[in-house]
Amino acid sequence: MKTIKLNQNIEVSRIIQGAMNFSRNSFTPKEVMEMMVHRIDHGVTTFDTAQIYGSGDNEVILGEALQLNPSLKKQTQWISKTGIILKKDQHSIAHYDTRAKSIITSCEESLEKLGLDYLDVFLIHREDPLIGHEEVASALDECFNRGYIKSYGVSNFDPHKFDALQHFTKQPLVTNQIEFSINCFEHIDNGNFDFLQKHHIHPLIWSPLAQGRVFISQDPEYQALKNILESLALKYNTTSAAIALSFIMHHPIQAIPIIGTTQNQRFESLLESMNIKLEHEDWYRIYTAHPQRRLR
Ligand SMILES: NC(=O)c1ccc[n+]([C@@H]2O[C@H](COP(=O)([O-])OP(=O)(O)OC[C@H]3O[C@@H](n4cnc5c(N)ncnc54)[C@H](OP(=O)(O)O)[C@@H]3O)[C@@H](O)[C@H]2O)c1
Repeated sequence: MKTIKLNQNIEVSRIIQGAMNFSRNSFTPKEVMEMMVHRIDHGVTTFDTAQIYGSGDNEVILGEALQLNPSLKKQTQWISKTGIILKKDQHSIAHYDTRAKSIITSCEESLEKLGLDYLDVFLIHREDPLIGHEEVASALDECFNRGYIKSYGVSNFDPHKFDALQHFTKQPLVTNQIEFSINCFEHIDNGNFDFLQKHHIHPLIWSPLAQGRVFISQDPEYQALKNILESLALKYNTTSAAIALSFIMHHPIQAIPIIGTTQNQRFESLLESMNIKLEHEDWYRIYTAHPQRRLR
């Protein structure tokens, strides 16, 4: 499996496994552990989670899975995120909290739940309208100095907010976790990809398969896109989903997809995407097949 360096010390697998769906479908810790072993056996060693996944239970089940097979800890890299507070327990409204105490406590809780000594990457999950960049930077640096985290970054930030936070942190922000797929071009359009390229930063890509929507949708809006994917799947001797993933990895920014499947067979077929060298014009066939895409 290829790897990509986010900085000198942090290396992640070329494809990351998102663990958000591991706390769905009533998976047992043993089943989650077996999924982790399967991914690792195929070279996908980096896993992504967050404080809020599973209403806080996702990291618990991941921790229980790791507890069943502690040797996995040394073979894996872990990403978690903080800053979204759900309406639950003492919180009467969902909100963001990027105050220092909340960031540090959340980091400690993630480590406790996962049973890890440190996180490889710790991210601020979303743009908080009340963000105090200097305070967030000091909290991230505190987590770093205490050895809780090896690196930090952001998710869903625009370039202005990324830049403002970066101004105050002592370490570089190593990534921005954002959405990109055959069905979402927001960060190409809004200049985020250009900003990240300028700073030699690889984005981590969430929902890289648009949660399977395009493949299962009967919506006529998607028919042209589905037809193109299917014809390219035939041409490259693979699946439509692997073509969709190769579309992401074709971009010069070297974006790192975080796939969310919980199915071993689907996961294995997606790995084929790493060996697909899409022809330039085929990339544009996909890009322009989307109903809202027209070359200007
Ligand atoms: N930073 C953020 O704001 C943010 C937001 C969302 C997600 N994330 C991260 O990104 C990860 C991936 O997100 P995601 O789960 O949305 O990714 P995804 O890979 O786009 O979608 C995975 C979902 O789509 C289904 N699916 C995939 N391929 C399919 C196909 N060919 N046909 C039908 N269904 C298909 C999967 O079902 P099966 O399980 O049955 O295969 C699964 O439910 C998450 O686990 C999380 O770590 C981050």
